[in-house]
Amino acid sequence: MTEKFRETLPAAEGAGRREASGVLIRTAEERDVSEIAALEKRCFSDAWSETSVRGTMNSPLGYVLIAERTDGEGFDLPCGYLIAQVFDGEGELLRIAAAPEARRRGTGRLLLERMLEDHPCVSVWRLDVRTKNAAAIALYEKYGFRIVTENPDAYKDPRDNGYLMIRTAEN
Ligand SMILES: CC(C)(COP(=O)(O)OP(=O)(O)OC[C@H]1O[C@@H](n2cnc3c(N)ncnc32)[C@H](O)[C@@H]1OP(=O)(O)O)[C@@H](O)C(=O)NCCC(=O)NCCS
Repeated sequence: MTEKFRETLPAAEGAGRREASGVLIRTAEERDVSEIAALEKRCFSDAWSETSVRGTMNSPLGYVLIAERTDGEGFDLPCGYLIAQVFDGEGELLRIAAAPEARRRGTGRLLLERMLEDHPCVSVWRLDVRTKNAAAIALYEKYGFRIVTENPDAYKDPRDNGYLMIRTAEN
């Protein structure tokens, strides 16, 4: 197991957390780009290409995590990922997703926790989310993000308004 390969939080209170045991979160590497892009296609109507994923991963500001679940022999079945960028004490969550068949088992929660844990000096996190994305909004609110503005017609295919959500260190 490499240093970067950190086991997820131990089982704790809450059904989501318990069900997430057997999932590992680690820093994504070049070999993960195609799997992340494949998950993007399954999870978003405006999926990022491999080039976009690789571009953020290789940027000095980029931060990319992958979640893998065990197949009984190793941890090599990708079931989620997170893409963010961090600059000068501010962070932006760009993408987060759990594979459709792996949802509601704590993967999103583990990814978000790891992002926050890895950046204790970030004082403000921001993100944009579709107003109709109740699952994501509920997840973000659990971790202290609050809606600050609504941007009309921010999204296409399907058309939707967007919320800007912010999490400050004081939260
Ligand atoms: C949003 C998303 C990443 C959540 O991932 P997940 O692994 O299913 O989430 P978790 O199991 O960790 O859930 C954590 C919390 O989020 C909230 N949540 C997750 N899915 C939910 C749903 N369908 N309805 C309501 N709340 C939900 C709950 O508060 C949940 O805690 P609980 O299980 O204790 O009630 C996942 O639904 C997804 O990949 N959606 C498609 C991609 C997407 O929309 N990404 C966000 C773009 S801004």
